[in-house]
Amino acid sequence: MPFKPMTSSSVALVTGAATGIGQSIAEQLHEAGYRVAITDINVEQAQKLAQRLSASGANAQAFKLDVRLQSDIQSVFTQVEREMGPITMLINNAGLYPNHPSLEMTETQWDDVFDTNLKGTFFCCQAFTQAAVRNNIQGAIVNLASTSAFSARPGAAHYAASKAGLVMLTKSLAQEFGAYGVRVNAVAPGLIEVGKANVSTAYRDQFTTMVPSGRTGTPADIASVVSFLISPAADYVNGECIVVDGGFLTGRTLQRSKTS
Ligand SMILES: NC(=O)c1ccc[n+]([C@@H]2O[C@H](COP(=O)([O-])OP(=O)(O)OC[C@H]3O[C@@H](n4cnc5c(N)ncnc54)[C@H](O)[C@@H]3O)[C@@H](O)[C@H]2O)c1
Repeated sequence: MPFKPMTSSSVALVTGAATGIGQSIAEQLHEAGYRVAITDINVEQAQKLAQRLSASGANAQAFKLDVRLQSDIQSVFTQVEREMGPITMLINNAGLYPNHPSLEMTETQWDDVFDTNLKGTFFCCQAFTQAAVRNNIQGAIVNLASTSAFSARPGAAHYAASKAGLVMLTKSLAQEFGAYGVRVNAVAPGLIEVGKANVSTAYRDQFTTMVPSGRTGTPADIASVVSFLISPAADYVNGECIVVDGGFLTGRTLQRSKTS
């Protein structure tokens, strides 16, 4: 049962919404009655989703947004407001999780992950809240962190550091934006299978032995918690990071290996 939006005019903007977890978030929010701005660097895929959703219910529109570029964020947020109305909910989902051993990490690889996962999220939060203050409306933000914020693995130093930063960014912005009626929370997914081959059968079998729930996660597992966090049911939840990992972090075991 999806959580309903505060008003029927609520507009939710989701970044990286064309595929994977972002797509599921867009679908669940649309089903709950939100009008959804489906933003992604991959605008063709975003348009396909927007067309499918708009055919069955509230308005959904696609916008090309590269979250690494502050200028893009400013112009797209303005465009969404002009075409769909004030944005009341923001879900910062766009993220990269490449594998790069630290001994060979390049500056470009490091910057790409940080610019997308951390800098992009910050400037989306800023643009959203500037508009909320200007329009005198309350709102909520959810940032997609990761269990990698709390548990290291080889080959993901940049990713883990960016997501750990995102958890603290979430708490910092909750402190600053609370006074303006904007709540800021995070969700930290465990291993989520997103349709593309991001999980091999062998890895899944090995990984699920460390998950009390005995399975990997689905995008819908994450979308339902995001949906809760932006709903009035979570009105007193602020600056929090909810781990959604089937219990993986409760009993993780140390894996030691060389990365190259
Ligand atoms: N899948 C998992 O196991 C998992 C686990 C923990 C956290 N997460 C986090 O969840 C989020 C979504 O992950 P996913 O598995 O669905 O990834 P995905 O690769 O399936 O989808 C990511 C989407 O972001 C878009 N994107 C990439 N760079 C962008 C940019 N610069 N600007 C705008 N859009 C951009 C892509 O086009 C894509 O549509 C990420 O932040 C990821 O770190 C995923």
